[in-house]
Amino acid sequence: MHLLIRNADIVNADDRFLADILCKDGVIEKIGPDLEAPPGAEIIDASGKLVFPGFIDPHVHIYLPFMGTFSKDDWASGSKAALMGGTTTLIEMCCPGRGDDPIEAIHHWKSNAAGVSSCDYTFHMGVTRFDKGTPAALKQIVEDERITSFKVFLAYKGAFGIDDTELYQTLSLAAELGVTVTAHCENADLVAETQKKLVAAGNLGPEWHEPSRPVSVETEGCHHLATFAQMTGASIYVVHTSNQPSVEVLDDARRSGVKASIETVIPYLVLDRSAAEKADFEGAKYVMSPPIRAKEHQDFLWKALADGLIDTVATDHAPFDFQTQKHMGHPDPDKCVDASFQPTGKPGNFTLIPNGIPSVEERVKLLYTHGVVPGRIDLQTFVRCASARAAEIFGLYPKKGVIGEGSDADIVIWDPDWEGTISVKSHSMATDYSAFEGWQVTGRPETVTVRGKIMVRDGEWCGEAGWGEFLARKPGA
Ligand code: URP
Ligand code: ZN
Ligand code: ZN
Repeated sequence: MHLLIRNADIVNADDRFLADILCKDGVIEKIGPDLEAPPGAEIIDASGKLVFPGFIDPHVHIYLPFMGTFSKDDWASGSKAALMGGTTTLIEMCCPGRGDDPIEAIHHWKSNAAGVSSCDYTFHMGVTRFDKGTPAALKQIVEDERITSFKVFLAYKGAFGIDDTELYQTLSLAAELGVTVTAHCENADLVAETQKKLVAAGNLGPEWHEPSRPVSVETEGCHHLATFAQMTGASIYVVHTSNQPSVEVLDDARRSGVKASIETVIPYLVLDRSAAEKADFEGAKYVMSPPIRAKEHQDFLWKALADGLIDTVATDHAPFDFQTQKHMGHPDPDKCVDASFQPTGKPGNFTLIPNGIPSVEERVKLLYTHGVVPGRIDLQTFVRCASARAAEIFGLYPKKGVIGEGSDADIVIWDPDWEGTISVKSHSMATDYSAFEGWQVTGRPETVTVRGKIMVRDGEWCGEAGWGEFLARKPGA
């Protein structure tokens, strides 16, 4: 089966050129001028459009068990939403509970996606405990399950969080196995103590989430991780970096030889902390960890992205319904609900609001609208941070992350002139709200292919559930 894209203005992370693209059996077979159309080929004319490699979101949560509930999207809605937004590969966090068996957990996580996901996918393996059985289990997960990145949480004490001995052991093993460790960096004890103090003083609303986990708490987490990485020689990837001092600490570590990559996420680039101060508990829609910061950090993050200090822009897609799940932390006793959404009759507080913002569908459009259109980043940076770098860091390049001969035919034909409005009424995500309701966007993925199959055509869904494949990776790739 052939697909021929004519007159493509191809934008990769390091070049831009005009050519035709011929895809065969899911792979880009040839790129060049005036390619001959094989008999029966589907032909798309991309004149006037931009053509990008499929975008990669290296940090999403699908049906995550978290804070007494589950994040809202399953693989059917999550992968469809990703594709509608131009994202053709998802990397999800497999997050077992501390008591769970890691091998059973990865099998379970894989089985949730297999035959359901419309886009390609792989996982970071969450290490939420390290005991004597862990090294053998993790080796098996790397070698047989073909998962070559781990995830650790320095936050979420008593849930996913690990202690320093476990962190040291995880990083040492990762260095030995040649895998990268992704990490959520916030000092868990400082968060727990500050939360207690704020709640005891009667500070209950969502606007207190940010003060309970200030910049310094995240910066300490980054410094902490970088020190452990230096001691163990492990490669680290810091997820959802929200602020200037944290990026600077990691960049300094990099200069002194630590193998560190830095991720930020789209909410930090387009929202500031005033979102969590919205009246009528609307601020709960914007509660995520680390929290959304003051405007000055947003300006810094854009510059750091343009300067190449930040490697990737992900989402940390962790969607929870507003009317039910987010209300688990409502301070009004009449509006606060428990995990089965029954009224508690007691005041909730910000520590009980499930953390996360739905954004897998909007990441690329928001990055283009707020990054490329006003000139904060150029097109190459856009492709690099939303696709190519993630592929390189996580061993998917050049199969993914580039339009090149031999690469998977994951292609986004982008209409740079399209204008539209974001709304819960039209999104494909499962949540009952959009964090960006009513926002105007410029540019959209008009056509999206996964391994040569058209999943979105003229901005409309035409994909197939279950088309997505698990991406088996090799350590050290
Ligand atoms: O608020 C967030 N980030 N929720 C999802 C879990 C995590 O920390 O990544
Ligand atoms: Zn996190
Ligand atoms: Zn996350």
